[in-house]
Amino acid sequence: VESDTDLWERAVASDRADPLAPFLERFVPLYPGVVYLDGNSLGRPPRDTLEHLTEVMAEEWGRGLIGSWDHWAELPFLVGDEIGIGLLGARPGEVLVSDSTSVNIYKLVMAALPARPGRRVLVIEEDNFPTDHYVLAGIARRHGLTVRTVPVDIDAGMQLSDLESRLDDEVALVCLSHVGYRSGALLDMAAITDLVHSVGALALWDLCHSVGVVPTDLTGAGADLAVGCTYKYLNAGPGAPAFLYVRAELGQSLEPPIWGWFGQVDQFAMEAAYRPRPGIGRFLVGTPPVPAIYAVRDGVRLTLEAGVDALRRKAMNLTDFVIYLADQWLVPLGFGVASPRQSGRRGAHVTLAHRRARQLRDELAALGVITDFRTPERIRVGPAPLACSFADVYTALIRLRDLAGA
Ligand SMILES: Cc1ncc(COP(=O)(O)O)c(C=O)c1O
Repeated sequence: VESDTDLWERAVASDRADPLAPFLERFVPLYPGVVYLDGNSLGRPPRDTLEHLTEVMAEEWGRGLIGSWDHWAELPFLVGDEIGIGLLGARPGEVLVSDSTSVNIYKLVMAALPARPGRRVLVIEEDNFPTDHYVLAGIARRHGLTVRTVPVDIDAGMQLSDLESRLDDEVALVCLSHVGYRSGALLDMAAITDLVHSVGALALWDLCHSVGVVPTDLTGAGADLAVGCTYKYLNAGPGAPAFLYVRAELGQSLEPPIWGWFGQVDQFAMEAAYRPRPGIGRFLVGTPPVPAIYAVRDGVRLTLEAGVDALRRKAMNLTDFVIYLADQWLVPLGFGVASPRQSGRRGAHVTLAHRRARQLRDELAALGVITDFRTPERIRVGPAPLACSFADVYTALIRLRDLAGA
């Protein structure tokens, strides 16, 4: 067992060697003493975002007034491409910023179903995020479909063989999270998409916990559809709009389930009949939230400036450090590591199990160390690599040790 001082030295040395350390200064400062390890729920505000929002709104809204819609109307596409091309390995015109993740799941599943006529089964991993389950269950009930769930170990994530055993030619679509919200388990997108395609089904990926921290190649993986949010690792702010991805080859053939005027080919012709736009724009519905999309843009640009490969490396090192300290300090106190131990098999957070997790999480928060509670009795430690240091991880875990051991 290393001494606390040795471990602290290790944290300090890692921070000194961290090429991304300067990015910590790019965020609105925390209250002194606060350690924020919950950027995987809600990212922190970049300073640039606050500055630009004030400028952009004063100029474009204040002076440009309604005339600014000339360029505002393009924002969902422009920022969609910045996300798609910069972070997801998508091609131009395949990603759109719109609505919430939940609404986008609904839109894409409903649009995809007619592309697989006669298939009446939706497949979802048992531990996928609740909203993914709810949306699929709601669609299934209304349209007389069946939802088939793939059993998973909630700490290890889904096994390919368990998915395989649930697939057949009745399956229209499979909905999975790239990184699991509870365990942080990372799935092999390319291998799984191949498996899904081998039975003729479509793959819908939820990228909420991977976008901005896990390099992703939607094109290379052959993914059909994807959704994700921007308020976690992309730091776009509470309620910032989500994005959706439709593979170009599918785009023209899918009919949007909600026919809104922003998806109409000639919006201001005010035609009586709806005619969808030719590309991804058909998935727009109503008026997009302009200030929030600017915040998405700034969050994405900060991420691109750091580089997603560098962020991935730092996230692996930070989460390895969480597990290293947990093994030294917490496992002897009855904690379990409820995430994959190999850094290549998890996203950017580590989940710790303890029978008093909820209480300990609250006590930690009272000391200024913000983590997340998740059922059943788990603490999610999310050191977002753009906004966290190795010293943050040290401080959080030593406080947790002292609370749990008291
Ligand atoms: C994996 C996953 N999917 C979906 C959501 C919900 O997204 P939204 O609130 O944008 O609908 C979350 C939120 O935390 C999530 O973690």
